[in-house]
Amino acid sequence: MFRNFNCGELNLEKVGTIVTLSGWVQKSRNLGNVLFIDLRDRYGITQLKFEQNNIQLFEKAQSLGREYVLKIVGKVVERESKNKNIKTGEIEVLVDELNILNPSKTPPFTIEDKTDGGEELRMKYRYLDIRRNKIRDNLILRHKISSEARNYLNSIGFIDVETPYLIKSTPEGARDFIVPSRMNPGKFYALPQSPQTFKQLLMVSGIDKYYQIVKCFRDEDLRADRQPEFTQIDCEMSFVNQSQVLETFEGLIKDLIFKIKNINVEDFKQITYEESISKYGTDKPDLRYDLEIINLSDTIAGTEFFDFFKYEFTAGIKIKSGSTISRKQIDNFSNYIKQQEVGGDKLFNIKINEDGIIKSTVDKFLSDKDKYSLASDLKLNKGDIAFFMSGERKNILSVLGNLRVFIAKSLDLINKNKFVPLWVIDFPLFEWDDENKRYSAMHHPFTAPKEEDIKKLSSNPLKVKANAYDLVINGNEVGGGSIRIHNKDLQNQIFSFLGFSEKEASEQFGFLMNAFEYGAPPHGGIAFGLDRLCAVINGDESIRDYIAFPKNNSGKDIMIESPSIIDKKIIEDLNLDISL
Ligand code: AMO
Repeated sequence: MFRNFNCGELNLEKVGTIVTLSGWVQKSRNLGNVLFIDLRDRYGITQLKFEQNNIQLFEKAQSLGREYVLKIVGKVVERESKNKNIKTGEIEVLVDELNILNPSKTPPFTIEDKTDGGEELRMKYRYLDIRRNKIRDNLILRHKISSEARNYLNSIGFIDVETPYLIKSTPEGARDFIVPSRMNPGKFYALPQSPQTFKQLLMVSGIDKYYQIVKCFRDEDLRADRQPEFTQIDCEMSFVNQSQVLETFEGLIKDLIFKIKNINVEDFKQITYEESISKYGTDKPDLRYDLEIINLSDTIAGTEFFDFFKYEFTAGIKIKSGSTISRKQIDNFSNYIKQQEVGGDKLFNIKINEDGIIKSTVDKFLSDKDKYSLASDLKLNKGDIAFFMSGERKNILSVLGNLRVFIAKSLDLINKNKFVPLWVIDFPLFEWDDENKRYSAMHHPFTAPKEEDIKKLSSNPLKVKANAYDLVINGNEVGGGSIRIHNKDLQNQIFSFLGFSEKEASEQFGFLMNAFEYGAPPHGGIAFGLDRLCAVINGDESIRDYIAFPKNNSGKDIMIESPSIIDKKIIEDLNLDISL
């Protein structure tokens, strides 16, 4: 027997019990006449005590290094100096028998909460990194979230159906990962960017409530919240409208936040895409704080400032009681917006000092009346400051959207224990792809336009709204979905808008359009990013530490050294014509 207790469960009630424990050496302290070892397993740490009077055992204990794997037998005793911070902190085990199950090389970084290992090193030895509390706890959290999601969806009649991984391209907007087919020379499978088309086919099959916790693969540029392979909680329902879909999945997310964080979140706000962009400069706003963007264009239009700069659009953000923020902080904001990835230029400000005097960085272009009007538009009170910018609308809103987040972080305005989920709805169906000079689907090509907008399809396509929605939590897009097209003619029309010839559409998606001819029910659904959901629920921005074996920013797994060169013979067998 290796153990009859784990390292996280012994307490004063077990004093006097002879126990067998197994685990890893976290650290040891030799005080001369007694030696302590912290023995660690998945459940916690138990202090082992070795005394000089058993000299052979004592010497063996002295030889143990970090991460050795041990089995010990000993008696639970009460500790003299107790550690109230850990569950086992009131006891220790006086060891009688010590077996070294396996020695260990000195680990390349310390297996501690605050490790000295950099990201690359931790990734190369990820199996050691997972021994650290943080990563282990993240994986346990992920397990809880996915199990709870399953329980919830099962309880309301959803069934879990697996869909294939070796498929044909799915148009989610990224590049596909491709797998060559040995048995069909010159032909390739694509790994799914999502199970989108299959879940729609399942609706045609009558599986009216489907879910799957499923791997998706996207060959796209990576960031903190993006991995080339990630997991979705993918769902689809038949005979539902948008509000029924939102209601169903609001239930799921509320349940998850309650079960995991014990927090009852309020009913989710719903805001339109347009409102989100104009108030927050983004379609994934963080609503844990205010800092709304205020449009000042009308007021600015009559000023000398406008005559001089001739800007199309002006907008600003007010910071309550911000008139005393330092010069350095203001410079930080100005420098931030000028970064290339933010894309801003000049940041002006206007404030009302405590003495009631309104001051602006562009005083010379603004009359007292102009300043008063601006202050009134911004609802500035004594002691408030507002930052504003002028330029092209889309750019200014995006820069202010980024600045909003930067201000909230810099001034510590974010309540980390708060969850504010919201639905962003009424997305445009198309966006204009300037590079390729064509329309592209904002969500994906299977999304249904709003019934009342179908007539605008040919006259004003950019004004057509979609029955599409995103779930945003604390500034992160955690999920997205839509009501789908279930009519072959409309689907064909959309494909042609998106630049597919009839032949191309039929080659790529003929299977779906054929299925639509055999009684496709009205349907819709959503997919949540499980990795993102875990990170957001735990208050983190990066998803990497919620994935057991993630890839780095160049898409590499540096532990197994993948991707890698493959054997020439394999390349020949696959009939691939590549010269390496
Ligand atoms: P979408 O492309 O919006 O929709 O993806 C759904 C959710 O998946 C997560 N996600 C990612 N997470 C980590 N790394 C990535 N590279 C990545 N890409 C996406 C996000 C996102 O909100 N088939 C549709 C869903 C539907 O219409 O039902 C789809 O995949 O959290």
